[in-house]
Amino acid sequence: MTLRSVVLGCGSYLPQQTLTNAELAARIDTSDEWIVQRTGIRERHIAAEGEFTSHLAINAAKAALASAGIDAQAIDLIVLATSTPDNTFPATAVAVQTGLGIHHGAAFDLQAVCTGFVFALATADNFLRMGAFKRALVIGAETFSRILDWNDRGTCVLFGDGAGAIVLEAQQQSGKTSDRGVLTTHLRSDGRHKSKLYVDGGPSSSMTVGHLRMEGREVFKHAVGMITDVIVAAFNATGLSAEDIHWFIPHQANKRIIDASAHKLDIAPQKVVLTVDRHGNTSAASIPLAIDVAVKDGRVKKGDLVLLEAMGGGFTWGSALLRW
Ligand code: ACO
Repeated sequence: MTLRSVVLGCGSYLPQQTLTNAELAARIDTSDEWIVQRTGIRERHIAAEGEFTSHLAINAAKAALASAGIDAQAIDLIVLATSTPDNTFPATAVAVQTGLGIHHGAAFDLQAVCTGFVFALATADNFLRMGAFKRALVIGAETFSRILDWNDRGTCVLFGDGAGAIVLEAQQQSGKTSDRGVLTTHLRSDGRHKSKLYVDGGPSSSMTVGHLRMEGREVFKHAVGMITDVIVAAFNATGLSAEDIHWFIPHQANKRIIDASAHKLDIAPQKVVLTVDRHGNTSAASIPLAIDVAVKDGRVKKGDLVLLEAMGGGFTWGSALLRW
């Protein structure tokens, strides 16, 4: 027998306001055709004035708790992945914790940019499997609209705001790959690439928040290889293969990166969950947002094998294989 982190439920939240490619084209020198062809994105959601990352996260967390059928008081760990916290400190996770009426256990933020959700999932999984906590909320929540340079057409068309969450519970399982729960996680970082995707501000360096800067081609060049690397690691660790996967739920950065990764790994196109067209790149929120879409529309069912992956600023990259 072994402890596994089993998913009890999931939820998400998107700000009401949407921003279409046509609306962007009315403001900057771009077009719906260019954005769709290069990225697959058609629209994204933008947080309202006064709507913070914590607000999105609390809504997603409440939806996840409702879907899990448990009370907030049953949660003793909150790991919130974000690069767009409400404040430099304290962690946005404590605003979420108090917003949910929880005053016990631990809540902290984790920052691995677009790979944040996979890092947060792996972190919570390790705490649950070692018996330190019993039930965790793992959240990805972002307001990237606040760190975009809206005059830079190379970046501002790519990102959106949103939040997604899952509830994990430590449960005794057999120790086999037929178990429900997180089966394996693989995390990587390589700071030599940090200047290819970064924010040009911060409390220690400039005392400002800064704006997102990216060498898009350079990111693209590395993405597929890095994604493949951590997925192959997940297959090697479990003896499972692309054929065994029911659903591939990748970080939603760009349809071309997702298609190329699935193709390279022999993952059938009908197993790929795509939300980038409606959500844009919501960084750490994109995977749990996509999970929630695929659970709600009935694709992901209990017992399905789900493969997650992400790659982003740092660079950071990672994968997780879990049975729903
Ligand atoms: N609308 C119209 N034209 C544009 C736009 C735009 N929004 N943005 C750039 N262009 C122009 C450029 O100015 C350039 O024009 P030029 O040839 O006259 O100089 C031309 O389009 C080509 O620019 P590139 O940057 O070379 O375009 P590319 O084909 O590489 O596509 C893109 C850009 C979509 C950013 C691509 O590089 C990409 O997807 N990279 C991956 C980056 C990514 O997904 N980052 C997300 C964060 S990291 C992550 O989550 C994995």
